[in-house]
Amino acid sequence: MKKVLISALLGLTFACTSQAGTLHVGTEATFAPFEFMDEQTKELTGFDMELIAAVAKAMGDDVKVQNMGFDGLIPSLQTGVIDVTAAAMTITPERVKRIDFTEPYYQSGLVILVKKTDLDKVKDLDSLQGKRICAQIGTTGAMMAKHVKDAKVTEFNSITEAFMELKQDGCTAVINDKPVVDYYLVRRADDTVTTLPQVFDAEYYGFGVKKGNKAMVEKLNAGLKKVRESGEYDRIYQKWFGANK
Ligand code: ARG
Repeated sequence: MKKVLISALLGLTFACTSQAGTLHVGTEATFAPFEFMDEQTKELTGFDMELIAAVAKAMGDDVKVQNMGFDGLIPSLQTGVIDVTAAAMTITPERVKRIDFTEPYYQSGLVILVKKTDLDKVKDLDSLQGKRICAQIGTTGAMMAKHVKDAKVTEFNSITEAFMELKQDGCTAVINDKPVVDYYLVRRADDTVTTLPQVFDAEYYGFGVKKGNKAMVEKLNAGLKKVRESGEYDRIYQKWFGANK
């Protein structure tokens, strides 16, 4: 009798703390059009936000999104604060050592954003040697910047600050994901800056999960497959990238 009661209680505790049905998502929401704050509704929106919500829904779950620093996402997975990252995060060999990823869900690449007035001096990555380069902290753009000989790299918490710094001539270039730079150029109508023709385009975004959480990767991949097959992926893709493609 006592045993039955204890296991019943344990079952109850488990049911309460595991919060079945809610997928805890971590993001860094200065990265339009993937994740950003809608000025009107004050809600987080974007391609990743809609896609992860659709994937969760396909698995019968709701999402709860937490906005944090990009460099806080991997530690938050490791400590179990979040179940998954939806943050335009590129699947890189370094990250694969620390976390696991789902199947790729978006192909991306990096570009270099510069002042139009510098176009005669700055033509490619090599011409940034010895210059100041701005990027978002912990990103592949920042990693690429650090590989440029003698470059002084300033890493900002948000990509918006990096764009601002370039505008104010605090750095010669920003290295960042092409779709985000393109969106910025179109939306902000900042016609003092432009991208260099060089595109470094072999990056794939994946949803990140805690290392070894095979069940979660499988669940998300199954959800992603459903969302692709139902046409929902295409609908979301068209909504955010249709006009540019
Ligand atoms: N794709 C780049 C990376 O993985 C940049 C991602 C930045 N994402 C963000 N939500 N701020 O490093």
